[in-house]
This record gives sequence, C-alpha cells and structure tokens, in this order.
Amino acid sequence: MNRKLTDIELSMVCEAIASRMGLHFPVERWAMLRRNLVLAAREFGFHNMTGFIQWLLSAPLNKEQTDILAAHLTISETYFWREPQVFTALTDFILPELIRSKGKEIEERSDEIPRSGKGEKSIRIWSAGCSTGEEPYSIAIALHKTIQKIEDWNITILATDINPRALNKAVSGIYGTWSFRNSPSWLKSSYFHHNEDRQYEIIPEIKQMVTFTCLSLVEMSAISNANTMDIIFCRNVLMYFTKEWVNKISQDLFHSLSEDGWFVVSSSELSSQVFPQFTPVNFPGAVLYRKSKKESAHSLYSAALAKEEIQPIQPIQPFQPLQLPSTPFNPLQLLSSVALAKEDLQPFNSSTLQQPQAIPEETSADKIFAIRLLANQGYLSEALSLCNEAIAAYKLSSGLYFLRASILQELDKSSEAIASLKQAIYIDPDYIMGHFALGNLFIRQGKAKNAKRYFNNVLDLLSRCKRDDILPESEGLSVNYIRDIILTGLQTQESK
Ligand SMILES: C[S@@+](CC[C@H](N)C(=O)[O-])C[C@H]1O[C@@H](n2cnc3c(N)ncnc32)[C@H](O)[C@@H]1O
Repeated sequence: MNRKLTDIELSMVCEAIASRMGLHFPVERWAMLRRNLVLAAREFGFHNMTGFIQWLLSAPLNKEQTDILAAHLTISETYFWREPQVFTALTDFILPELIRSKGKEIEERSDEIPRSGKGEKSIRIWSAGCSTGEEPYSIAIALHKTIQKIEDWNITILATDINPRALNKAVSGIYGTWSFRNSPSWLKSSYFHHNEDRQYEIIPEIKQMVTFTCLSLVEMSAISNANTMDIIFCRNVLMYFTKEWVNKISQDLFHSLSEDGWFVVSSSELSSQVFPQFTPVNFPGAVLYRKSKKESAHSLYSAALAKEEIQPIQPIQPFQPLQLPSTPFNPLQLLSSVALAKEDLQPFNSSTLQQPQAIPEETSADKIFAIRLLANQGYLSEALSLCNEAIAAYKLSSGLYFLRASILQELDKSSEAIASLKQAIYIDPDYIMGHFALGNLFIRQGKAKNAKRYFNNVLDLLSRCKRDDILPESEGLSVNYIRDIILTGLQTQESK
C-alpha cells in the first residue's frame, strides 16, 4: 500500500479521471493526487495500490463509487461572504434591479393573469459547486437583507456539488469559526445561533431557503438548457477542470440562465477568452458576467454605477490554469504516513517504480497552502502541528504565524492566538492583516482599548494603499472594505 505510483500509472489515472469526471490534475498536483489516491484505495477496501489502479482503470464506476472518489479528489475550501465585493454587487445593484424588473413584468401581465400572491414573483439562483454550503447560505442571507417582504417572493436557491460529504455538512447548517474567517461580524451574530462547542447553526429562516442536491457538472443535462436561472454562481470550481470541460460546462450554464441572467465566477477565473459568450460588467471591486447583448448590459449599469466611483470596464485577462504551490508537498502526508505505518505493507517491487522526480525546493507559501487545506478539512490539531513545524523551518514567515493564530482561534485558544499574531507583526510591523486580526481578537475578549490601538494601526497602514487594492493574505478583501468595517466598528464602540 505504501508503494509510490509511477508517473505512467498517474498519467493513466489522470486521463481516466479527466474523461469520467472532468477533473484536471496538472503535474504540479500529482504529489497530492498520489496521497489522495492512497486514501481512496483504503476506503474502497484495497490492500495494494496495483490492484486499486487496475480496478480504477478498468471498471466502470457506479454512482456511489464516483462519489467516494470525488470526495477524495476535490478541494472543498470555502467560507461565508467570500469575495465580499461580489455580495455588495449583488445586494446594491443586481438584486434591486432584478426585483424592479420582475415587479414590472408582473404589472404588465396583471391584466391577463389572476393574482395569487406568492408565486408570482420568483427569483432562481444556482450555486454550482457549493461545497459545504457557505456560498449558497451567503446568497440566501444577501437576499434576506435586500428583499423587503421576502415572504411575497418565490425564491429558489439550488445548491449542487459532486461531493456528498460536503453536502451532508451543508445540510446540517452547522459551522465552526473557521468558516467565518473574513466574513463581517454581523453575519454570524444575526444569522446563526451559537451552540455549545463553538459551533454556529444557521437560523431556520435562511436554512429553508436553500435546496442541496448532489450533481456533477459534467452530467448536468437535467438542469441545463432550462433558461430559468436568474443568477448562477460557479466560483472556484472551473479552475479544477480541463479546458474542454470548462468550455462545455460554461456553455451549459449559459443555456441554464434566463435572458439577462448573471454568471458569477471568482476573480481569479475571469477571462474573456474562456467565457466569450458572456458580457463582463464592472462593479466596484468585482466583475460579473451577463448573458445579454454587450450594449444593453453596459448601458443598463452605467447609470447605476455612475453614482459610484467606478473603474471603466477593464479588459479581462485569460485566467491562468490553477495556481498551486510549486512543490509536491501534501497536507495529508502527516495523516496518511501515520496511518500507513500501521498497515501490513506489501513487498516493495522496485521494477514497477520509475526514477523519483526531483522535488523542487518547498517554500513557506506551499506550506501555508497545505496547512490551510488540512485545516479546511477539519484536521485542526494536525494543521497546528504542521504549522509549528513550518514555523521552525521558516522563522521569518509572518504568514505562518498569522495562519497559526487562525487555527488557534478555531481551537478556542485566544491567548495563544494573540501571542502568535504579535510575533507576526514583530517580524513585519506593516502586516495589516496581523493588526486587523489582533484588533478583532481583543474586541472578542472585551478589551476595547487594546482593539482600538490595533485598528488605528490598520487605518494608518491602509492610508498608504489604494482603496480598491486587495490586501495580501486577506482572501480577497479590499482596502476600502476593511476600512469601512473598522470605522463602523470604532463608531459603535464610541457610542457605547
Ligand atoms: C473550492 S470549492 C468552491 C466552493 C464555493 N463555490 C466557493 O467559491 O467558496 C470547489 C467545489 O467544486 C466541487 N466540484 C468539483 N468538481 C465538481 C463536479 N464535477 N461537479 C460538481 N461539483 C464539483 C468540489 O466538490 C468543491 O466542493
């Protein structure tokens, strides 16, 4: 079981996975693929990798087997209110306009159709590749915040994913603090009940707005071509697919949208070459795609946006294939090596092995990526050990201290988290996210004076940046957004 798969075996597996599931594994991700295949083999009950690979390449997989494989091969990283500028575009521009146009449509038809209250006005949104549910619940919250008399509306939020384990968590609606990293504090306090064990449960009113279904984007003919969705979110999903599948899926999603519907991908996936059928529309800090003729999409929004300080529509660069760390370091290494040590090992057959590939130098960014993946999967103590090891190797990486603080917070160890953040800003006094996180931690501890000191440091540092700059290691937060949060927070503190 501990035999390392050869490159030939891996490339055959990659081909099979690409054609059956559409998932793309470039060579940079092979080390991770190797490890995840070992874990999958174990779950399928194989005691050696040769048997597993032969089976995988020859047997047609049934649904249950595809689900198991998908759970091991996909990346489920997500969190609430991810890329907040997209949600601002939604609440400030897109939803108000959608509400107006649907209302107008109803008025125009009111002579012909008898009124029946709810059901006349409907909004349909699809979160494709919803992972553990943070995205569709954020969408539901955005609708709830924006639509007055929401009970008069027939709202559908369809949330689909290929990974049934992620969906089970989504359906439970229960999350740890990790899922709220970078989300505004009102979101947690207004829309979640605090359970014991630092768990947060989404309120029933929001939960019932979302319907979760297991669906692979490579087999979605049942939903596509329906032309009924007003908005489709498909963020941080297509980056894992082959080019052919990205074209095919985006085409299917295009046909699933109603006329003038919106298509939302993540900022790192924007590309006029990949999505030529859509029209890009620029919002403050975000670009969204629209299914409409170029002229109408632009003119429709220019009036609304004229009130804002907005940039002209930028030419969109093609999105790069997945930007992953350059080394084959794998977060699951820690877990799988412990587990493998306990196994009855198969005799080592050197003839089946190729020469090992040269392993490039590992960077602290690779470590950070890997540790975050581990933490995302809920292996917090393992992530912490790995982070401590990484800090021992990269003593001057402020990002590692920051990450350790996030994990410690999740483990309810606030004092240690504060110590780690102080180390981060000792190494890099201009580390904005470090000061910001310290301010937030002190607020949570009720130490407003300390919090104010760190928030003021953030405001000072932000004054040197442009308002739309995205802060490093902030997972997409802009200067303007952080400044607003702090100013509002400081005002609230002063009025107490
Ligand atoms: C990185 S998560 C993105 C979650 C969320 N959209 C966001 O941006 O926060 C990618 C998700 O895509 C899902 N996925 C990957 N391949 C898929 C497929 N063929 N069909 C449906 N979902 C898929 C994965 O299971 C994973 O949950």
